[in-house]
Amino acid sequence: MLFLIRFGGRAWAAKTSSKDEGSAKCRKDSNRRNRVCVRTSGNMKSLVLLIFLLAVIPYARAQQIELIANTDGRKVVSLDGQWKTIIDPYESGYYDYRYQPSTNGYFKDAKPKTKSDLIEYDFDTSASLNVPGDWNTQEERLLFYEGTIWYKKAFDYQRKENARLFIYFGAANYIADVYLNGQKLGRHEGGFTPFNFEITNLVRDANNSLIVKVDNKRRRDAVPTLITDWWNYGGLTREVKLVETPATFVQDYFIQLQKGSRQRISGWVKLNGAKLDQKITVRIPEAKISKSFTADAKGYAEISFNADLTLWSPDNPKLYEVSIEVETDRIQDQIGFRTIETRGSEILLNGQPIFLRGVCIHEEAPFRGGRAYSREDARILLGWAKELGSNFVRLAHYPHNESMIREADRLGIMVWSEIPVYWTILWENPATLENARNQLTEMIARDRNRAAIIIWSMANETPLGDARLSFLKKLIEHARTMDNSRLISAAMERHYVDNTTTQMIDDPLGEYVDVFGCNEYVGWYDGLPEKADRVEWTMKYQKPLIMSEFGAEAPYGHHGDSLTRWTEEYQQNVYQHQVSMLKRIPFLRGTCPWILMDFRSPRRPLSGIQDFHNRKGLISDRGEKKKAFYVMQSYYRELQKGSQN
Ligand code: GCU
Repeated sequence: MLFLIRFGGRAWAAKTSSKDEGSAKCRKDSNRRNRVCVRTSGNMKSLVLLIFLLAVIPYARAQQIELIANTDGRKVVSLDGQWKTIIDPYESGYYDYRYQPSTNGYFKDAKPKTKSDLIEYDFDTSASLNVPGDWNTQEERLLFYEGTIWYKKAFDYQRKENARLFIYFGAANYIADVYLNGQKLGRHEGGFTPFNFEITNLVRDANNSLIVKVDNKRRRDAVPTLITDWWNYGGLTREVKLVETPATFVQDYFIQLQKGSRQRISGWVKLNGAKLDQKITVRIPEAKISKSFTADAKGYAEISFNADLTLWSPDNPKLYEVSIEVETDRIQDQIGFRTIETRGSEILLNGQPIFLRGVCIHEEAPFRGGRAYSREDARILLGWAKELGSNFVRLAHYPHNESMIREADRLGIMVWSEIPVYWTILWENPATLENARNQLTEMIARDRNRAAIIIWSMANETPLGDARLSFLKKLIEHARTMDNSRLISAAMERHYVDNTTTQMIDDPLGEYVDVFGCNEYVGWYDGLPEKADRVEWTMKYQKPLIMSEFGAEAPYGHHGDSLTRWTEEYQQNVYQHQVSMLKRIPFLRGTCPWILMDFRSPRRPLSGIQDFHNRKGLISDRGEKKKAFYVMQSYYRELQKGSQN
């Protein structure tokens, strides 16, 4: 029986039992299926019921669940391709003229039912944009656009018995409000990490209307905040797919070597569904491993066993086929096993000291520009890093796409992965902390089984201060709780000892990290190239240092003498002096020049030189190698010869 409560002009419906009908007026509803009872009074009980229904119904049938791991290993339907879009700078599709969220917004995907109906938008006659892809490089008029664009994708889907369905987004910059068939699935904040919603009970066989409001407006309390030295590419920047699973499925798992052990694998497996207390079997056929565990009532099982494995390393990036099987599901992954730890100022990979010959990379596509997202983009960028002689990359300043990490896994390139806690974040704002913590959670959740990732970085160039320290300490604690098998770092501050050219590294955050990262621009923002010859380095902590940024700018093909700014010769000059300075730092265990390839930046307007690009690349965005590239390449060759790794 449907029960209708009327307040003012609008009505809501809910199921009730016959005993409530006493005082109500009853009649058959329009399609003569249900008997409808109307009570016109406005008493408190019905008001509470109404608020409860309002709060619950929209989300009752769709929910954001924790990340589904390894979607590449599951049954998926890609929704990539052309999406219909509506550019909405004033968010007219979301707010009414009183700036109140409208219940009749563009997410309704409404169509005029009669010739007199007034509908002021129509996705199906609107322009399209490619997904994955930022909107800025797809249309000239959108290059500088910061605001809202609505995306629509229509799809059919044959529902299956005992199957569940999720929508998975690789990333959407910056805030995504997601709707299916007019229903709100939820909201995600953060432009560089994945999220998924369950739509099992919402999807229909034909003509599903998936609508996403993407807003990349910058905000002071956001992460990152208002100012960055990278382009604020907006849109559905990574893949979108339907993920089909059994009713109870292997939702997530963590299978890595136990901290400090090269024989013991330890971790966990998590099931999601009704049938949770299942037997879980982990198989690594090549290592003759088949181990079974029993999940608890929550579908969670700790796993631990010995294994005789070939360890993953840059020289031998060994990946094993690993499968996790339960009665109702089976998932396969390619996982490498290695240990990473520090001992004093040493970084040890599989127990052996290693020097991280790195380079920084922004997630920009070579040649075409815009956000990189494909395996091909990753192959080119990491291929150039290998050519430079790198065994390590710092993926700046936010989690890059999964193709990049999996390619690094395959190529044997170690990775520094970072969340965009960049420059001056609102440290005292609890929502900002929650946002940063959520991005950290999602970064680790997606990539915790990737051997390539050796360092989680919490921040870049953040100013000293108590609020900053407590903010970052909380993030570090959270990261260690989620994954104690990797090293924690951040690109930290340093300063000159009074009136000397000695750089002191004594950032209080150093107490809580495993590895130090420091950015320095001696020869570019700090003096002329030869100054590096007079700079000494000292550090308060007995920990390894990675010089996480250094470099200078020059457009490819811009030539002059070695003291003329913006020339390749000046950039080369900076690198030559940098390399000799770096060689003198006793606790240096890694270097990451800024940066592999020129990239777009809204902070770089110098026309004819920068043209809204940061030209500190060792390679231009058209793949042309600058003179400085070869300075670093020969330094890395020298290191390689010296260390045989
Ligand atoms: C900073 C910052 C980078 C920036 C670079 C530069 O150190 O971390 O994001 O691009 O310097 O000024 O080129």
